[in-house]
Amino acid sequence: MAQVCRLRFSSIALFRRNAAAHIIGSVEISLEGKVALVTGAGPNIGSGIALALARYGARVACNDVDDAAVKACIARIERNGGEAMAAVGDVTDEKAVQGYIDSVLAKWGRLDILVNNAALLGGRGVLDETAEAFERAVRVSALGTFLNTKHAGRAMASRGIKGSIVCVSSSNGWNGSAGVCAYAFHKGGINNFVRAAAMDLAPYGIRVNSYTPTAPHPDNPELLAEYARQGRTPFGLRPGSSGGLGAPEGTEEWRRPARFDGPRNPMVPMGTTGTPTDIGHAVAWLCSDYARLITGTDLVVDGGARAKNFAYVPAAPDDLAGPLPLIPLDDTPMPPTPET
Ligand SMILES: NC(=O)c1ccc[n+]([C@@H]2O[C@H](COP(=O)([O-])OP(=O)(O)OC[C@H]3O[C@@H](n4cnc5c(N)ncnc54)[C@H](O)[C@@H]3O)[C@@H](O)[C@H]2O)c1
Repeated sequence: MAQVCRLRFSSIALFRRNAAAHIIGSVEISLEGKVALVTGAGPNIGSGIALALARYGARVACNDVDDAAVKACIARIERNGGEAMAAVGDVTDEKAVQGYIDSVLAKWGRLDILVNNAALLGGRGVLDETAEAFERAVRVSALGTFLNTKHAGRAMASRGIKGSIVCVSSSNGWNGSAGVCAYAFHKGGINNFVRAAAMDLAPYGIRVNSYTPTAPHPDNPELLAEYARQGRTPFGLRPGSSGGLGAPEGTEEWRRPARFDGPRNPMVPMGTTGTPTDIGHAVAWLCSDYARLITGTDLVVDGGARAKNFAYVPAAPDDLAGPLPLIPLDDTPMPPTPET
């Protein structure tokens, strides 16, 4: 069984919660005793966050509309030594939300952490998006985040639990990209929902924050193996696709390209946007007791991408020192990497 992940920092003294022991010389970041609910626990970011919370010691309820995604997330947590349960349901269905939160409370008696991660990615630009797709994308993100925050908030407040609610934003919630008008709309909405909900829940000691990833590189071994089986790159791209937002639409003679399609300069100052494991470490810390006064704000996990001035082109990849090595959280062996 894998060990619960603990990060230690030297030369700091503190009193341990629930124990009279006075620890001299180190601080442990631990979520032991806490119960978490992660929505949209699909194999990429949701599963990465759920695994991280489990590795830091929380028991984790995994939500998704897709039963198979929930089962895979639970299996991943369990084979890495954690404890998990299913919370299957559509985040936009209030009865379903109440039902899976009640089942978490019935099994584990409490709820300390909610991660609002479920969303529909992709989409189209304003000239081409359909009313149906726009409405559904906004509904999943906006209504799903509201309903889960409402019922998790009530579960926490009514039990005197000073919990932590984290909503997933995106670089598209802060800056513009072509081809994602619904996504940009609802991620921008998440950013100010966080500030409003933080005010509603502050009297109860409950914190509400967002984190902002930017196209992390998938690192779930099962997802990478699936991409390899499908002949995709480790980033999930089909052969020949250069990826990126703002793909061309339509053949009318008045159409103009939405993006530069030539060779691109490096855009991320540290050379990488990281992985779901990087996000998981950050979210686990944000849900720990050390973040007790952090509310109504955003934590960016993107190698400096959002901080960058538009006119600044970072150094070439070969000239960068690169970040510290990643501290892995999944003991599953990695599949062989296909040629990209
Ligand atoms: N992947 C990226 O590049 C990226 C970048 C920035 C932000 N994000 C954000 O991170 C989060 C996760 O992204 P991902 O790449 O893992 O996406 P994903 O599509 O792999 O996972 C999203 C999951 O949400 C689930 N879901 C969709 N509708 C639902 C509903 N109504 N109820 C319950 N579950 C539902 C899906 O089944 C899926 O498993 C999203 O909020 C996304 O916007 C992703």
